[in-house]
Amino acid sequence: MHRLLRFLTLLGLSLLLPFAPSVAQDPLTLLQRHPLESPERGVIAHRDAIVRALGIKPGTVVADIGAGTGAFMEPLARAVGPGGRYIGVDIDKDYVKLMESRAKRLGLAQASVVLSRPDSITLPADSVDLMVVIDAYHHFAPPEPMLASMLKALRPGGQLVIVDFDRTPNSPRWLREHVRADKATFLKEMEAAGFRIDRDLKIPGLEGHFATRLLKP
Ligand SMILES: C[S@@+](CC[C@H](N)C(=O)[O-])C[C@H]1O[C@@H](n2cnc3c(N)ncnc32)[C@H](O)[C@@H]1O
Repeated sequence: MHRLLRFLTLLGLSLLLPFAPSVAQDPLTLLQRHPLESPERGVIAHRDAIVRALGIKPGTVVADIGAGTGAFMEPLARAVGPGGRYIGVDIDKDYVKLMESRAKRLGLAQASVVLSRPDSITLPADSVDLMVVIDAYHHFAPPEPMLASMLKALRPGGQLVIVDFDRTPNSPRWLREHVRADKATFLKEMEAAGFRIDRDLKIPGLEGHFATRLLKP
């Protein structure tokens, strides 16, 4: 009877095991399965090349605007080092929570996150050296108030790097439907907001995207 009881207990536990809290519920493990983290996205497959092209110096204050799940948090925070700062900014509170737990789990004291507004990045004036906007600019609607708040938060001479889909008449249909305008239109909006175009960045292997650096005069 004793043995039967033990057998039934073990059987029950083994049946319940797949539903028990496990590493599968660890936020970082779940994160790895998030579509924004998929290497099928060009910017994820070429994440290291993108970060290298930014040429970040230790001590830099970097703001990642529209940071999503924080896929770029770790390489950017490591590039700025403990003396710099990484600020992940997004309007989605679930993404902001994910980024918070990511920073904690990775022990990145130089990383912080900000829940912003659709019309403003809500960062203080002249507080950022470098802003990166990766696959996010085309979501800013309308872009003008966002650009005004970005210009304000950059320090004079600070950099804005936009990496986004390069919409052309030959782009696949999903891209033409999803991205509202082409590179030239996006850059004109940024110039109209007061940014100065510096140059395109070369990201080896990254197709269907452009990467352009602009400056706050
Ligand atoms: C396609 S995701 C890109 C996320 C991340 N940059 C990456 O490449 O993994 C676009 C992100 O922009 C954010 N977003 C959209 N409009 C925004 C706004 N006005 N201000 C800040 N973030 C915004 C969305 O919440 C989303 O997380």
